[in-house]
Order: sequence, then C-alpha cells, then structure tokens
Amino acid sequence: MIIEETYQKIKNIDDKGQLASYIPELANVDQENFGVHISTIDHLNFGEGNCYDKFSIQSISKVLSLSLAYRILGEKIWDRIGVEPSGTAFNSLVQLEADNGIPRNPFINAGAMVISDILLSNLENPKEDFLTFVRSVSNNSELYYSKKIAESEKSVGFRNAALCNFIKSFGNIENKPSDVLDFYYDLCSLEMNCKELSELFLFLANNGCQIFDNKAILTKSQSKRINALMQTCGFYDESGEFAFKVGLPGKSGVGGGIIAIHPNQYAIAVWSPKLNKKGNSYKGMKFLEEFTTKSESSIF
Ligand code: DON
Repeated sequence: MIIEETYQKIKNIDDKGQLASYIPELANVDQENFGVHISTIDHLNFGEGNCYDKFSIQSISKVLSLSLAYRILGEKIWDRIGVEPSGTAFNSLVQLEADNGIPRNPFINAGAMVISDILLSNLENPKEDFLTFVRSVSNNSELYYSKKIAESEKSVGFRNAALCNFIKSFGNIENKPSDVLDFYYDLCSLEMNCKELSELFLFLANNGCQIFDNKAILTKSQSKRINALMQTCGFYDESGEFAFKVGLPGKSGVGGGIIAIHPNQYAIAVWSPKLNKKGNSYKGMKFLEEFTTKSESSIF
C-alpha cells in the first residue's frame, strides 16, 4: 500500500529540520516521532507509526477558529481580515503598518488574533464553547487544551503581544489584548493525534458536512473558501511550494503537524516535530509530496 511504502521511505531520510524551540515546551518532544493517518469520506481509515500519540496542533487550530467565526458572522468577517497570501513568516509584523491593521489572511498569527477577538466578542464562554465546537465537529469528547503548552508559549510571547497591541492600535481588536492573547494561546494548545486530526477535518473534504450524520458545519461555499485559503495561505511563505509539490489544500503547525484535504475524497494528517526553515514539518512535507505523487491524488 502506498501509505505504508511512503511512510517507510520517508522515515529513513535524513531529517534536516529542527524542533520549534521558541516555545520551550515544544522542545521537550521526542523528535523521532513520525505518524500519519488518512480518513476517507467513504469511512476508510488507515494509520502508520505514531498516529495515536497526541501532539500540539498549534496553527492547525486556526482553521477551526476560522470555521467557527465564519459560521457565526458569515461574510462579515472579511471586513476585518484579507484573503491574500502574505508571502511573509507566520509571525511577521511588517505588512500590518501599510495595511492599516488588517491582516492579510486568517492563518498568519495576526489574522488568527483578529479571529480570536471575533470569537471572544461573540461567544458566551469562549474557551469552553470553542472546545465544544471542535468536539462536536468530530464527535470526539477526548480533545483537550494543554495548559502547560499555553503557559509555556505565553511566557515567551513577546512578538505575539506586539502583534496584538499593534492591531489594537488600528482599532481592529475589540477586546483587551491580554484576553485575546490568552484565548489565542489556548486555541494553539489543542492536542490531538493524527487519527483524531484526520477525522476532525473530514468535514472540509465533505463540502462542510460531518460524515457521520451529514450535518452541515459550514455551507458548501464556506467550505470551498476555507479550502482555497488553505491552498494559498496554509504554509505562510511556503504555500506556493506546498501547492507545487503536494497539490492539496493544507495547514501546518509548529508542533510538526500537517493536515491536508482532498475535497470529496479524504483528509490526511502527518506529524513529525522537526521543522524546516519556514516552520513547517520537514518530513511531513516530504511525506505528502511522495504520497500525492505516487497515488496521483493531488487536486491538480
Ligand atoms: O503563535 C505562535 O507562534 C504559535 N502558537 C503558532 C505558530 C504556528 O504554528 C505556525 N505554523 N507553522
């Protein structure tokens, strides 16, 4: 089977990546971990390696917070966030000045902070309600935040604090920056394994509907648009490279996870904690490139 063969091949390559040590807790992860899991809309599941070990999904959660905000506010969210690739690093400040505090897209840290702000303003109990949303999308009550990871990131979050305060100075953050940051760190601290991640994201392969009961999480158009954003912005200044080599909408996180979607077919999750220079999993990218090439299942 292609997944098994690809897994074995990529497992043995020389990993040129580095752990995301800027968040102290993430540097404590065993860097040899490597897991992959695919879930199809026809209810097939297959995993390899460390696919049942939980890890910090970090920026992958930005797709989930966007989904919930989009569900609540509809197209109005685009008054406050753009839909263009930034071509800059995930935590860059440079474009915000010229763009008057409107982040280029919802997947850079600046954009995810505006989404966090929207959720804070619109949810009664933001932290609990977001977790309830994520659990209900995947019918999985075993999903949790990691207090340890959130606190670890907060203790060194000077750049994120700068970003949030800067956006606030343009009037594009309604709540207190410290509340927005706390919530943002909680969202990033969500933990799950590759199996849970691929099952959770199947709604984006299924036109916005859960596969176990066909209930709509998003409209067909919203699901299409989130896939488009993952394709163009999911890997920051490496989004072009991911489209070029893998050819699927996807999203990475500095915990070393990647989720990729083949609309109308499958969601596939990969986890390997060492990151390339752009902050995306080194082996995760290589695995997906080999997998979509061998299985001829890129969308292009
Ligand atoms: O704010 C941060 O820097 C992290 N919590 C998330 C960054 C991230 O995952 C970027 N993805 N590759």
